[in-house]
Amino acid sequence: GAVELGPYRHYMQKEIFEQPRAIADTLEGVEAITPTLFGTQAEQVFSQIDRVLILACGTSYYSGSTAKYWLESIAKIPCNVEIASEYRYRDSVPDARTLVVTISQSGETADTIAALKHARSLGMEHTLTICNVATSAMVRECKLAYVTRAGVEIGVASTKAFTTQLAGLFLLTLTLAKLRGHLNAEAEASYLKQLRHLPAALQAVLALEPQVVAWAEAFARKDNALFLGRGLHYPIGLEGALKLKEISYIHAEAYPAGELKHGPLALVTAEMPVVVVAPNDVLLEKLKSNMQEVKARGGELYVCADGDTHIHAEPGIHVIRMPEHYGALSPILHVVPLQLLAYHTACAKGTDVDKPRNLAKSVTVE
Ligand code: G6P
Repeated sequence: GAVELGPYRHYMQKEIFEQPRAIADTLEGVEAITPTLFGTQAEQVFSQIDRVLILACGTSYYSGSTAKYWLESIAKIPCNVEIASEYRYRDSVPDARTLVVTISQSGETADTIAALKHARSLGMEHTLTICNVATSAMVRECKLAYVTRAGVEIGVASTKAFTTQLAGLFLLTLTLAKLRGHLNAEAEASYLKQLRHLPAALQAVLALEPQVVAWAEAFARKDNALFLGRGLHYPIGLEGALKLKEISYIHAEAYPAGELKHGPLALVTAEMPVVVVAPNDVLLEKLKSNMQEVKARGGELYVCADGDTHIHAEPGIHVIRMPEHYGALSPILHVVPLQLLAYHTACAKGTDVDKPRNLAKSVTVE
């Protein structure tokens, strides 16, 4: 039946607020890290691979880009991530010992299905999908599947599908790590505990909405925005920029913060807000010096900072304090204020949030 809006103004807002439930459902029944989470043939398939190739489009491409960092650092398995519409038409060097992972909310995106078939035509038979629709073409086409339980997503701009994909990709990372001898019992228990706590952690981030609304009022008057992140949070910057473009029509781009000096610094003025994803990780000090480079040129910084980063509000620096530092799973929390920023900026501009111009929910033709 029809999905009710309830107290929300748009489906996108409802879907952002559903994320604690969506993640809880996606992780339901996960008691231990085991290949069977991905299907009965998974153990056999996973024993025959020594690299990962992720294929996806749009927001799903950014969850894949985040997973690359996890797969290489936690599971120590080489991973490439490719935009499906590029991969299907370029000459690449196939390796039969590759796990081909397609990521798709709908499971029907034409380019992603074609990229999967292309990989198969090159002799890569080990296929897995992270997909939100159990009955989709993608689930039928792949040997293995992890079906996320975000529920029906109506807003064209994907939100809960993205965070549930990340949860599925993290489980894949842990599974491959365990099979390859890089996950001991203690680490497994600790990661499982962090996964189970995600719904509560997400709830605390959602409670920051009023602070994001204040930022959105400033963004609605701008024509451009820049998003900065580093490492694992660079793809989160990319996703934040994509959300803002899609629904508020403000031009936005994301850069890995260390690359600022190689171009985007030339664009920085008080007229271009700079959003910074600032978790407390090993790159924090470097990120802070990147922020200084922006500030010294008169840029306005909007920083989502973990509590222990010692980043404080001052003229030119606006800070939203993230409730807790979340280690490897931090991207799942840090994307939420960026989703809300795009949403409220679009509301302030009065755009058609759930059906942005020129875009479709699912692109089933090339
Ligand atoms: C369209 C949607 C995006 C989505 C992309 C990939 O562009 O507007 O929100 O990320 O398709 O869709 P998929 O269903 O394959 O994840």
